[in-house]
Amino acid sequence: MYIKEVARRLNTTTRTIRFYEEKGLISPTKQDNQYRTFTDEEIVRISTILALREFGLGIRDIKQLLNEQGQYRIHDYFNIQRAVLFEKWLETKDMIHTIDRLLEQNMDQSISREDIFTLSKHLKRLKSLRKSWHDKWDFDSQAADYDQSLKMHGFRFNVHQDYETALEKVVDTMPLEAAQTCLDIGVGTGNLGAKFLTKGIHVIGVDQSEKMLQACKQKYPEMEVRKGHFLALPILDQHMDGIVSSYALHHISDEQKLLALVEMDRVLRPKGAICIVDLMFQDDSQRKEVLQHFEESGNKEAIYAIEDEFYANRSLLVDWLQSHNYQVTTHTFNPILSMIYATKNGQEMD
Ligand SMILES: C[S@@+](CC[C@H](N)C(=O)[O-])C[C@H]1O[C@@H](n2cnc3c(N)ncnc32)[C@H](O)[C@@H]1O
Repeated sequence: MYIKEVARRLNTTTRTIRFYEEKGLISPTKQDNQYRTFTDEEIVRISTILALREFGLGIRDIKQLLNEQGQYRIHDYFNIQRAVLFEKWLETKDMIHTIDRLLEQNMDQSISREDIFTLSKHLKRLKSLRKSWHDKWDFDSQAADYDQSLKMHGFRFNVHQDYETALEKVVDTMPLEAAQTCLDIGVGTGNLGAKFLTKGIHVIGVDQSEKMLQACKQKYPEMEVRKGHFLALPILDQHMDGIVSSYALHHISDEQKLLALVEMDRVLRPKGAICIVDLMFQDDSQRKEVLQHFEESGNKEAIYAIEDEFYANRSLLVDWLQSHNYQVTTHTFNPILSMIYATKNGQEMD
């Protein structure tokens, strides 16, 4: 397809497309007559660039995002676009909720400058919290040998102690049936989600790491994978029968964890269930006890590992869930590994 046709189809200008070419974001082939021609894949790549631009990403960031993974298929571009659109949609939803609150609180009175200021501060905070996470552990680089690393034993501090038992317990606990849909957040190479596939359950694996998703898809082609993250799940409201997550939540801060629960609650249907196994302490005092134990035994490796990540305070997560109409039970596998199982109350939608 020629440039004019592409511009018309994508509702953009030929100038914009040439600009992306100049910046090295696209490289259409030039025919003998010097006219540029675009393949279907290049057209989807341009529409992805346009979507990312609209979302406010700079040219350099887009270049990095699209180039770092090497060869993309059309499917991958749409996966990125979907993640971006969900972020945008959630931002718009936050704005609508904020305006609703402002109007509800001021039904009979005029809206004061103070009210507007408070709510716009809240909105800004929420927006920056949703965008605040970044992958300091570089999970893309861990994808190729992630499964191998799980089998390593003999360290003085083994975070994967009870890993298999914990994953099995999640599967035994979740009340899911064939043809229902289960979301696995931070799916990694698919070790937890795959256990549901064998029961005929439709599994959607979400991960922020493209390479993890590729590894997962290669191992389990029947699993649906989506790019996205805890703070902007690429799922519509109340579309999941169940949500599971293993060994992923401890990569986000306590404040981000509460927003992640808001997101889980948003996508879970009434009567649905959430089951999380992760590195966490029962509460602050148990955390202190464990750290003191490692301190006294001179296990610096353990202390470093714990402090490098965000092991949850289980009681905070349980409190949030209970105060949002969930029935909650917990299980402790070892001093740093727990499971939280929560079922949502409320009416099913017709
Ligand atoms: C330690 S691996 C666990 C993988 C798998 N759930 C398992 O149990 O083997 C952590 C995974 O969580 C993903 N992850 C970390 N933070 C995330 C976030 N904020 N949103 C989505 N995925 C995240 C990483 O990319 C990685 O694939």
